[in-house]
Parts: sequence; C-alpha cells; structure tokens
Amino acid sequence: MNYIVANLPDEYRIADEVELRRRIKVKKAELGDKLVILTHHYQRLEIVEFNDFLGDSYALAKSASQQKDAEHIVFCGVRFMAEAADILSDDDKKVYLANPTAGCPMADMAPTGLVYQSWDFIESVLGPDKVLPLSYMNSSAELKAFCGKNGGLICTSSNADAAFDYCFKQNRKLFFFPDQHLGRNTAKKKGIPKDKIALYDINKENGGLTAADIERADVILWSGYCHVHVNFNTEQIAAQRKEFADLKIVVHPECAEEVVDLADSVGSTSHIVNFVEQAPIGSTIAIGTELNLIHRLSVNHPDKKIMSLAGNMCVVCSNMFRTSLQDLCFTLENFDKAELVRVPEDISENAKIALERMLEVGR
Ligand code: 13P
Ligand code: SF4
Repeated sequence: MNYIVANLPDEYRIADEVELRRRIKVKKAELGDKLVILTHHYQRLEIVEFNDFLGDSYALAKSASQQKDAEHIVFCGVRFMAEAADILSDDDKKVYLANPTAGCPMADMAPTGLVYQSWDFIESVLGPDKVLPLSYMNSSAELKAFCGKNGGLICTSSNADAAFDYCFKQNRKLFFFPDQHLGRNTAKKKGIPKDKIALYDINKENGGLTAADIERADVILWSGYCHVHVNFNTEQIAAQRKEFADLKIVVHPECAEEVVDLADSVGSTSHIVNFVEQAPIGSTIAIGTELNLIHRLSVNHPDKKIMSLAGNMCVVCSNMFRTSLQDLCFTLENFDKAELVRVPEDISENAKIALERMLEVGR
C-alpha cells in the first residue's frame, strides 16, 4: 500500500512498495555496520521488518548509548526518542528521525516555560532541596536538561518504579511530568495514599493547588496524558471478560488507574510483547495499547487470539504511524539532505546527566 508522503521528492512518493523494499535492502547491505536502524514497537509492520534493534523506549535509549561502529543511527519512532538517542550516543554519530514530523502530543503537554513556573511555585512553598523533578522519557530535551540540572532524572514506563525509589531514598518529594497516569499508577504501586498524590492542573493558576496541598503531597503529578491510551476503559474490560471466559488482559501504564487495576498485567511495550510470547498456546489476550503493536503480535502469534481491548475502535498513535517505507528509503539514500537530530550542547549536557541517571537506576 502507498501512503501519501507530502514532503518527499516525487521519486519516493510514487515508488511502489516492492521497489522501496528493494532499495532499502540495497542501502542496508551497502552501509553494513555503519548503519543502525532503531525501531520502536509501535512502528508499522513493514518498518519493523528493517529494524536492527527493536524495543521499548528504555531499550532503544540504551542501545543508542552502546553503538560503537555505526556512523548513522536512523530512528523509526518519535522525536523525543531520537533526541534521547542523540544525547546518549557518542558525538561522532549522526542521528536521523526517519519521519522528522513525528512528535508526541503528550510530550507537548509539558511546555518548558510552564514547567519552570510550576517548579518555582512548588519551591516557593517548600523551600530548596525538598523536591526532585522526574520526567517521563516522553518529554522535550529541555525538560530532560531541567531534571539533570536539578538533581532529578528520567524514567520510562519500564523503570518508573526504580526512579521513584531513587527520589524517595533522598527523602525528597517528587514532581512527575508529563504523564499523570504513569505517575499515579506508579505512586499507587509504591503504596502512596491518594491524599498524598496531588494533581497539578496545567489549566489552572498554580495548578489549582494550595500551599497546604503541596506540603501534604509526596508526589505531585503534571496533568498530561496520552490521547491514545485514554481510549481504554473499564466498560471494555467488563464486556470482553463477559465474552471470553479465560481472557487475559495486559495494558500499558499510560492507561488510567481504573483500567490498570482491572488488568492481569501492566507494563511497557516490551513487557506486553513478552507477556504475549510467554502465554500458553491457545490463550486469548486483550491488549490495552497502540494498535500497530497489537496487529504485529496477532500476525506473529497465529496460535493465540490477540485483540485490542478497545475492540474495533482504531486506537492508533498517528505520530508513530507517520513513518513510511518512503521515509525510510529517502533517509537511507539521502544522508546529506535528511534532517539531523542535533540537541544543542548547552541542553544536551544536562539532559545527558538525567538520562544517564535513568540508565544507572536500571530496570
Ligand atoms: P514504551 O516505553 O513502553 O515503549 O512506551 C513509549 C510510549 O510512547 C508509549 O506510548
Ligand atoms: Fe506519545 Fe501516546 Fe504516541 Fe506514545 S502513544 S508516542 S505517549 S502520543
């Protein structure tokens, strides 16, 4: 199938899939170890086919930090992931985002100016050294730098637990952004009572919080969310459990608390892949995450019934979906014209501190 790729030269726009595949293979063979294609689990099936490394956002960041021979790192995913790859990889590596327009609306829900403002407000209430900033990987490089500069760190959905421990060990409160759901689900898992979790509502002055709310809280959550994962709800769970007696449900922690509470298992995209791989033959599994991953799992595991928790609803991350064979082929054939992902040094330095803390904390 051909997808419209508005910004590419006609040669790529009109090329058919067979031709694009052939040319991508030729380029991969020609570049050998000089090229590495890092691919996120939400990429379309035809993109995943060309990965050198496929993973969740933690594993991809780690892989970027370990690249030795590659000159070119081509990222098939979204911008914050490619930025992390640029920050963590050696300076001589060139990082490209196969589709440079692929962003993350959740990351955009935490504009730096607003986060700085809220931080100033929180610190004005608590005084210095009482709170640590913890940012989800899905955030701008500037916010990562802000965390690095202020003693904080980055986490992904696969090591949020360990990152919470890191902050609590220092006897600090924790300011978590941008995903309120990952933050709430992790705080709950850590046994933080509800009245010690405050929500900083970005549409209200001072987040709608009083000084007393901030003093009482152990965890302050930014009110961002993923527009993909909020499509899953408890009605779907009830309906699917009614229809399939032995159903197992696995969801991503960007889903709301009440959905996570009713699921059999929760975890990152890699956790979901492992869950399906390890399930016995004949299992029926409903998954609460992005549709392209569910589709791939259903193709790869014909001996299991794999479906979306949202039934026929099309729960797709349109940003992940943007990367096409045309984009990949264009990038590989035009390193001189393709846009480099280059985080400026003054941001990169502190962002790297926060990302390296994430890798040290591990998962
Ligand atoms: P993972 O870290 O689980 O790969 O998730 C990234 C993401 O953006 C989920 O929406
Ligand atoms: Fe961002 Fe949600 Fe897409 Fe993940 S699925 S990249 S959080 S918009």
